[in-house]
Amino acid sequence: MERTRIVELGSKVGQTVSVSGWVDVRRDQGKLVFFDFRDASGYVQGVVLPGSPAMETAKDIRNEYVVRVEGKVNKRPEKNAQADKQNGDIELEILGIEILNASEPMPYDITGDTLPVDESVRLKYRYLDLRNPRMQRNLRMRDKIVSFFRDYMHAHGFVEVETPLMMKGTPEGSREYVVPSRLEPGKFYVLPQSPQQFKQLLMVGGLEKYFQIARCMRDEDTRGDRQPEFTQLDFEMSFVEQEDVLSYTEPMFIELVKALYPEKHITQIPFPRLTYAESMGKHGNDKPDLRKDKNDPNELAFAWVVDFPMFEKMDDGSIQAAHHPFCSVKPEDREKFLKGEDLFSIRANSYDLVLNGYELSSGSIRIHTREEQAQVFNLLNISKEEQQARFGHMLEAFTYGTPPHGGFAPGIDRIVMLLENQPNIREVIAFPKTGEGKDLMAGAPASISEQQLQELSIKLDLPPAK
Ligand code: AMO
Repeated sequence: MERTRIVELGSKVGQTVSVSGWVDVRRDQGKLVFFDFRDASGYVQGVVLPGSPAMETAKDIRNEYVVRVEGKVNKRPEKNAQADKQNGDIELEILGIEILNASEPMPYDITGDTLPVDESVRLKYRYLDLRNPRMQRNLRMRDKIVSFFRDYMHAHGFVEVETPLMMKGTPEGSREYVVPSRLEPGKFYVLPQSPQQFKQLLMVGGLEKYFQIARCMRDEDTRGDRQPEFTQLDFEMSFVEQEDVLSYTEPMFIELVKALYPEKHITQIPFPRLTYAESMGKHGNDKPDLRKDKNDPNELAFAWVVDFPMFEKMDDGSIQAAHHPFCSVKPEDREKFLKGEDLFSIRANSYDLVLNGYELSSGSIRIHTREEQAQVFNLLNISKEEQQARFGHMLEAFTYGTPPHGGFAPGIDRIVMLLENQPNIREVIAFPKTGEGKDLMAGAPASISEQQLQELSIKLDLPPAK
């Protein structure tokens, strides 16, 4: 018999159907055995009545067994109906049941609230953890959100382009993950912290409107809103100014909320705009939480923060690009920039989108001439030789008719976390890493064989074991 998905059972009352899925819960009441069955589309209760040929097998079945059930869809008597439950008005009268695969007992209760469970156990058994309804919803809503963005981008003339994962270093402030080259011993690729350089080079390449659901890798300390691997909705546009990027992005977020979270409300439209200086002065940080009621799970307080400083002083007194070195400076501060004066007062054409106290996205209008790009590197005390070695390709590209351009990169994980009211981004990533950057399920990072090391011309010089 053809398989019926559980979500379709409501329209099959009176019919005999075949359902395949997991045993969510089994309740043995002696004469009767009740089951809640689960498939990717939902839940339904089934019952084995006394004398049913299915009774013998039913007695052997435990939670999380995978079964195929043949049964009749019955309307439940009014008094037994559960209006608040999916399929609460029907019940599957089990005529036959076949075990497709047994299951060991679960390491913890995967059906209830899993947030209080020791997270290292959840991560070790992530494939079981994902069976939980909250985790199922997180991944399914994430897919909807990503699909929304993709459709929105395409509808506005953007082209999705995949950029390399093995590349030369990109200076975005974090440590990079490195990949040794076998063919060129002693040389390394690095994994992208973001597609920043490639998206700018796509503008040189005449794409005009690029986007990518981009995987980014950063070797930085993880915390609740940070993972070593994460995903951005990365985009870049040619012939734009800051206002164009902001007025493209803002309706996209409003539409997203309307389409997928109609129960939520946005505190202020148009989104309030603060300069970095205003935000620091008024809120003491650059990601202010402007919610009116912090206990309202449906309130979304978006805000723009603009005019970030171009440079920042590090603890050791050195100077660094506050966002990244490809940001252009505000026209009012151009003279100081060209003269190299009063560097920490120079503002960039850069902007962040903030939501409920989290930085959701950063972007800027970029430099598009060789002279200005080289001036940033000069001010960052990067020698001419190093500029050439690290960024020669960017400097050269900018001499071949580069259009003015700018872009933005909303972090998908943070967006899903906030829209789904989850406590951290690990809850919205299928296979996240721990705070120490570990994959507890498969056991990464791991040693590699002596032969692999030899192929890569790598000799280990490990610190003594602790
Ligand atoms: P930035 O480094 O600010 O900008 O990153 C943009 C957005 O990406 C998300 N994000 C992260 N999410 C999870 N874990 C992390 N470790 C992490 N790091 C960043 C945040 C952040 O706002 N290339 C520039 C963008 C541009 O200028 O267009 C960039 O990557 O939501």
